[in-house]
Amino acid sequence: MCGIVGFTGAESAAQNILEGLEKLEYRGYDSAGVAVLNDGIISITKVTGRIAALKEKTNNGLALPGTTAIGHTRWATHGAPIDINAHPHISNDGRFAVVHNGIIENYMDLKVSLIKDGYRFESETDTEVVVHLLEKYYNGSMKDCIRKVAAKLKGSYALGILCTEQPNKIFATKQSSPLILGVGVGENYFASDVTALISHTQNVIYLEDGEFAEIDRESIKIYDCTGTEIKKSISHVNWDIQAAEKGGYEHFMLKEIVEQPRAVKATLTPRIRDGKIVLDDLDLDLTGIHKVLITACGSAYYAGCAGKYIIEKLCQIPVELQLASELRYSSLIINDGTLLIVLSQSGETADTIAAMKECSEKGAKTLAIVNVVGSTVAKLADYTLYTNAGPEIAVATTKGYTTQLATLYLFSVYAAGVLGRLSKEKYSQLIKELLSIPKLLQETMDMNSKIENTAKKYFNSSSMFFIGRNTDYAVALEGALKMKEISYIHAESYAAGELKHGTIALISEGTPVIALACNEDIKEKTISNMVEVKSRGARVLAVALNDDKKIAMLANDIIYVPRFDSVFSPILEVIPLQLLAYYVAKFNGCDIDKPKNLAKSVTVE
Ligand code: AGP
Repeated sequence: MCGIVGFTGAESAAQNILEGLEKLEYRGYDSAGVAVLNDGIISITKVTGRIAALKEKTNNGLALPGTTAIGHTRWATHGAPIDINAHPHISNDGRFAVVHNGIIENYMDLKVSLIKDGYRFESETDTEVVVHLLEKYYNGSMKDCIRKVAAKLKGSYALGILCTEQPNKIFATKQSSPLILGVGVGENYFASDVTALISHTQNVIYLEDGEFAEIDRESIKIYDCTGTEIKKSISHVNWDIQAAEKGGYEHFMLKEIVEQPRAVKATLTPRIRDGKIVLDDLDLDLTGIHKVLITACGSAYYAGCAGKYIIEKLCQIPVELQLASELRYSSLIINDGTLLIVLSQSGETADTIAAMKECSEKGAKTLAIVNVVGSTVAKLADYTLYTNAGPEIAVATTKGYTTQLATLYLFSVYAAGVLGRLSKEKYSQLIKELLSIPKLLQETMDMNSKIENTAKKYFNSSSMFFIGRNTDYAVALEGALKMKEISYIHAESYAAGELKHGTIALISEGTPVIALACNEDIKEKTISNMVEVKSRGARVLAVALNDDKKIAMLANDIIYVPRFDSVFSPILEVIPLQLLAYYVAKFNGCDIDKPKNLAKSVTVE
């Protein structure tokens, strides 16, 4: 997804921008650019490809003197990833430059009208309308100008702006897309997310929709949508640059896989005190809830699939699942008896935000389970449970998924307790099991330290099937996505019992089938499915409990997880699947942290 960065201070602005853009690379992009305001002139350099090319073209920023600049990484939506479509865009009169994250949905109407007014367009982008509107409406006051321009725009935007008549200032405004201000000493910033700022400051201001910031090196003035200056609090980010660095690992993804025991511990332990679950910020009356609706995208949705089983089992409340991008077109019954649980690592996924707004309008109470503090999902929700995973940089989520699942487990036990669905003994037993998860995650990791050898047997597959039943199936969904998104191998997940209704036609000699058979209650059925596919030539890689010798005899290869007789056991199964996907992708020479076509946070619908 696009990323924007702005800097004004005493140092070389271009170098700060390039450094900030490098920290946003994980969001996914295909072109980049920087604009520097110096002595009343805006100089722009853009490239198609990586930040390294931009650094080379600007001699690491030295070719662009000046202390005020804006920069952009572009994930193409409107117009091919070529230089002319890269941001920043500049007005015909050269007075304005703009960078943008989001989509201007009414850009075609605006473009037709601006062309009629005599403005010349260079690019195919939606963004370029903004810079011509700035030129059209500017009357000496940026505040008035931006208010008039914002009133014309429909869609989502985080905008960074330069104006030659406003030396040493950068301007920022937002609607639906994320935008954070960085408060430095003798310098100030804006950026799409904290990662771009954290090496300079841990003091940030979260800009809200409709607000506008006028920033120079000594001050940040913020105005609300009426143009009235407002005071906003400064938040302190509770992690530092080391957390956002690789820490010696070859890839962020491997670092984040390894971090999971610690991340899940940070999710669980602060909320379990004296044998009780304490959710301070959840003063939700659960007795009025008749059903839970879980919505999310991608891996977050698959965490919801696994969470559904636990909530229904422990709370005896019906749980519906709906993909966020489908929800608004569905005719689900949503009202004030509905608790919407929204899952999102970034808290900026456009489909998820749209679904959340839809459900809120219909009266649902919204509980966000989200990782990024101050994100749009967190701010929109009635209640928020942060997953405390720390920054997740790799596009493919790992600790984001497991901490979401851990938070769903926590909520399930809490809710079942509040609703009186658990005996004291059962409640205490579940608390003990929750507290044992981090150690068992580490044990699972240690048990699979040689999974590289298994990956060597599968990395040149053209397709794979991940099968399982009930909770095993929910984890199989995530395992297939991990494999697809980083190794580019076509991987399907199927309910094991469903294979014989058509898909088994695709099984031929050597077809890899990853069979998850850890759920004791139903694994015999999955074993039958394993035999079915093996008899048709499949190569079966089983995921089983470490004392299950029977499966080892049936499968071609086996991956073990520790026996964990608990409703929470599915959280362990995903670990070897993450590692399998990682090493398969590595053997395939894929760009593991920044897979092609993907973005870390999909902030467009
Ligand atoms: C997962 O590895 C993917 N990066 C993707 O499916 C992701 O889970 C999805 O886009 C949702 O993102 P979110 O959790 O930030 O909302």
